[in-house]
Amino acid sequence: MRILHTISELRQALAGTTDTAFVPTMGNLHAGHLSLVARARERGGPVVASIFVNRLQFAPHEDFDTYPRTFENECELLRSAGCDIVFAPSEAELYPQPQVYKVHPGPELSDILEGHFRPGFFVGVCTVVLKLFNCVQPRYAVFGKKDYQQLMVTRRMVEQLALPVEIVGGETTRANDGLALSSRNGYLDAAQRAEAVALSRELKAIAAQVAQGRTDWPALEAAAMRVLTGRGWQPDYVAIRRRSDLGAPAAGDALVVLAAARLGSTRLIDNLEIGADPINAAV
Ligand code: PAF
Repeated sequence: MRILHTISELRQALAGTTDTAFVPTMGNLHAGHLSLVARARERGGPVVASIFVNRLQFAPHEDFDTYPRTFENECELLRSAGCDIVFAPSEAELYPQPQVYKVHPGPELSDILEGHFRPGFFVGVCTVVLKLFNCVQPRYAVFGKKDYQQLMVTRRMVEQLALPVEIVGGETTRANDGLALSSRNGYLDAAQRAEAVALSRELKAIAAQVAQGRTDWPALEAAAMRVLTGRGWQPDYVAIRRRSDLGAPAAGDALVVLAAARLGSTRLIDNLEIGADPINAAV
C-alpha cells in the first residue's frame, strides 16, 4: 500500500488507470469504513482511500480541532483491508488558497434534515468531494448509507454535473447491540455508550410499525422524539421520508426513517430503510 500526500504523486501513481474505486474518509476509521473499502475492492480495480479532515464542512462550534487524527493507526487498518493507495493531503495541498469556489447543492435536498441543523455542511462536503474526485478521478466512489443524506446529495451532484463517477452505497455497520458505527461514538462515555442504542431502537420500532401499515407518520416521529427526550437525549429530528428524494412521503412510497440526536455533547445520526427497494435501486 502506498501513502501519498500530493496530488501530483497521486496522479502519477494512477496514470492510465480507468477503474479506480475511491473511498473518501476523514480518518478516525472503524469497521464501517473498512466495509466500504471491501465494497470498493469488489469493483476489481485499484482502491484509493483518502484521509482528510475537511475544515469546510465543520461549523465554528463543531469538533474540527478535536476530531481524532491517528494517522499511523488509520494506515494500518486500511492496509489490512486491502487498500492500494492512501491519499492524505495536507490542508495546504488541498486548499493552497482560500477555497472561494464552492459547490452549492440544491436546497431541496441539502437544506433539509442535516442541512437544516448544520447549515453549510453539504456545501463543505460537496466542495471537498468534487475536489477529491478531480484528484483521484475514480470510476466508482463508495459512500456509507450511515450518512444517508450525504450519499444522496453526492449522487445528485454527480448526476447534475455529469461527473464520470458511479456512486456506490455501502451498508451501515452496526455494533452487536444495534448502534451504528460512527467516528463520533468514541466521544461517548460508558453510560452514554450503553444508552446510545436507544436511537437505533426507536428507528427499528418506527420501521416495524410502518411495515405493519401505519401511515400516521408525524405521530410516530413525535412519539420517538418524546421517548428520546424522556431518556435525556436532545433530538434534532426523527423523520420518515420518501427514499427517492427525502421529501414528505405519500402512500405507496418507499420510505426511510432518519434521526439525529445529541447525547450529552455528542451528536449521533442514524437511519433505517423501511421495506425492500434499497437506495442503490431507488435513486
Ligand atoms: O463522510 C465523511 O467522512 C466526509 O463527509 C467525507 C465524505 C469524507 C467528506 O469530507
